[in-house]
Amino acid sequence: MQKKQDIKTMTELDKIIIKYKNTPGMLLRVIEETQKLDPHKCLNHKTLEYIAKKTKTPVSKIYNIVTFYTFFNLKPQGKHSIVVCRGTACHTRGSRNLLDFLIKYFGFNEPAEGQQTSLTTNDKKFTLKTVACFGQCALAPVVEIDGNIYSRMNPEKLHKIIDPIIKKRKK
Ligand code: FES
Repeated sequence: MQKKQDIKTMTELDKIIIKYKNTPGMLLRVIEETQKLDPHKCLNHKTLEYIAKKTKTPVSKIYNIVTFYTFFNLKPQGKHSIVVCRGTACHTRGSRNLLDFLIKYFGFNEPAEGQQTSLTTNDKKFTLKTVACFGQCALAPVVEIDGNIYSRMNPEKLHKIIDPIIKKRKK
């Protein structure tokens, strides 16, 4: 027997699918809105399978979309997000130092070389991620905190910005 929560989610998913039926970029919109339903902004396999079935799309295509766009998450996310740009312009202007500083600041384990960074604190309050480019290269290095872009960062500036934000939001 299906759980009440599953039925509620399926009903919500059906509504989203109907809303975007036959519109351009339908799959992207459906997946994006579906992700917003989850309290941890995360997509699980069951949900993606359901979307695939209802939209008559191969599950592999859904996964191609989800893994291509960095704003889709297959792991639970923290309430607040910090995203460090690791594109060429930001890299040459020191974004590795910013990432190292944040990894140390939150006490995360160093991700393996070449592995995409997506680290969440145990209390699920903060997620640290990287992105390939924000399209703000003239402002490099760039960090995004809860959707706000901070430009020409260095670890000292970053520390001054995040320390009060983090302390306030930890309460
Ligand atoms: S490389 Fe960082 S914004 Fe483009």
